[in-house]
Amino acid sequence: MSLRSQRWFKGPGLNPVIHRAWLRSQGYHSDMFDGRPVVGIANTWSETTPCNAHLRDLAESVKQGVLREGGFPLEFPVMSLGEVLMKPTTMLYRNLVAMEVEESVRALPFDALVTLSGCDKTTASVLMGIASVDVPTVMLTGGPMLRGISGTKEIPGATGLWQADRARRAGTMSDDEWEEVEHCLARSPGHCGVMGTASTMASMVEALGMTLPGSAAIPAVDARRRVIAEETGIQAVRNAMTERTPQAIMTPAAFHNAITVLHAIGGSTNAVIHLTAVARRLGVSLGLDMFDALSRVTPLIANVVPTGEYQMEDFFYAGGIPAVMGELVDLLDPVALDVRGVSVAESVSTVSVADRRVIRSVDDPLATEGGLAVLRGSLCPDGAVIKHGAASEHLLQHTGPAVVFENRRHLEASIDDPALDVDANSVLVLKNGGPVGGPGMPEWGMLPIPKKLAEQGVEDMVRVSDARMSGTSEGACVLHVAPESAVGGPLALVETGDLIRLDVPNRTLDLLVDDAVLADRRAQWQSPPPAFTRGFGRLYVEQVEQADVGADFGFLRGVTPVDDPTYDPETY
Ligand code: FES
Repeated sequence: MSLRSQRWFKGPGLNPVIHRAWLRSQGYHSDMFDGRPVVGIANTWSETTPCNAHLRDLAESVKQGVLREGGFPLEFPVMSLGEVLMKPTTMLYRNLVAMEVEESVRALPFDALVTLSGCDKTTASVLMGIASVDVPTVMLTGGPMLRGISGTKEIPGATGLWQADRARRAGTMSDDEWEEVEHCLARSPGHCGVMGTASTMASMVEALGMTLPGSAAIPAVDARRRVIAEETGIQAVRNAMTERTPQAIMTPAAFHNAITVLHAIGGSTNAVIHLTAVARRLGVSLGLDMFDALSRVTPLIANVVPTGEYQMEDFFYAGGIPAVMGELVDLLDPVALDVRGVSVAESVSTVSVADRRVIRSVDDPLATEGGLAVLRGSLCPDGAVIKHGAASEHLLQHTGPAVVFENRRHLEASIDDPALDVDANSVLVLKNGGPVGGPGMPEWGMLPIPKKLAEQGVEDMVRVSDARMSGTSEGACVLHVAPESAVGGPLALVETGDLIRLDVPNRTLDLLVDDAVLADRRAQWQSPPPAFTRGFGRLYVEQVEQADVGADFGFLRGVTPVDDPTYDPETY
């Protein structure tokens, strides 16, 4: 097997000379062009993404590993999707970054790839991008930040922030306490330190076999993350001459294992969308019903916020994902291989749990089922998702009158209005939060509890939307309703006062309105104007698919080989 990079660098012709000459401007020795594997390091570092602030340093450790193993590292930047600063939502740009990764890898002389990611969509987009290009890849996620703590009081990341905000709105938290939260919840670089979307996606990458085992939960600033970064570089060089591509690793067996782990750790609802998108690119059949079926047979064993009590730092000390997979071994497909070519069966044969408070056994789980459920019914014919493990038990079977907000602005203008006709029995409904309507499915799905109810001590209500919610969020929030309201799904027809019935045990969500009434409303319905008329935003709203199939662009399905003649380096 010859190295792909040699098509750029080998020989005395004009093109190889151009390729080598410009790289020499950075001081590279001739040895670098002697036929050693070139390892691209795709880095989503940015000062605008604090969760990824340490990835520049980690890249140096990766390079050290690549050099040690006889490779040639070349780092390149990838647009960084930081959840906190980026508006309207990072999800709007996930598919764009996936395209950027895919095209960068195909267009550049890489024999293997290391990806560095952390904050939610940085990992999701990189995973999607590499799925579509057949270059051996070892992923490395950035690890969680140190646990949020003030004195002896735990402030579990963004989940702690949401809880504090509820207390502030209810008038039970002082300004000083609120300020203390700001200073103590993000104590270091690294992604959110609970089982939010970033920790979940890091866990999915590990469960899929796309990273070295044990790496997902190592805290961002722990020296062991630098060590595993160096090992990642070494592994990438070793993989360069193999067929160990993302397509070879992310098989149906690997997805089965990842979804099983998702349920066992009480992972984020966002993983349903991201895994679905990745699988569709690879041609792996992965319907919403598979998530639900595996949820019903997988015990929840990770006692981590928001479905449990502990933070990611504790989860690491307890054994992390290897320990979880060891517990689940009878539920996993043992033949799936990781980036080292090692099977799950072999990989988990020596692991153990160090702290039973944080990682329970399958015989003594936190819950006998996983924390996610897929709903269907007249309000969501193509499906919806609820993280019932983080919802109030008494709301899991609930019928109540809808209080409808036509869009986010309407919600913000009226949710705290003392005159709003709402009580704890109401079902809060938000429209126009889906892929097209948001646009980009913003994390609006945890609608705030109306202030007057929060002051009465109401902490949870049934909420329904076509938006997503942060993996750090909690509550009886029905999300990802498909089809979404902006394309005329039944959600578009809901009016204040309509009865909505949620039945999680039976997996249904229904709008209890006569068909004739709905037909009248549909005849009157008009689609909202597109959010964008030019640029990437226009491409997005014109091409994005619905949540139940991953909210990807349909034209990105499939894999394009890197030896596609369109990209021939000897011609161009
Ligand atoms: Fe980046 Fe939470 S804000 S992972």
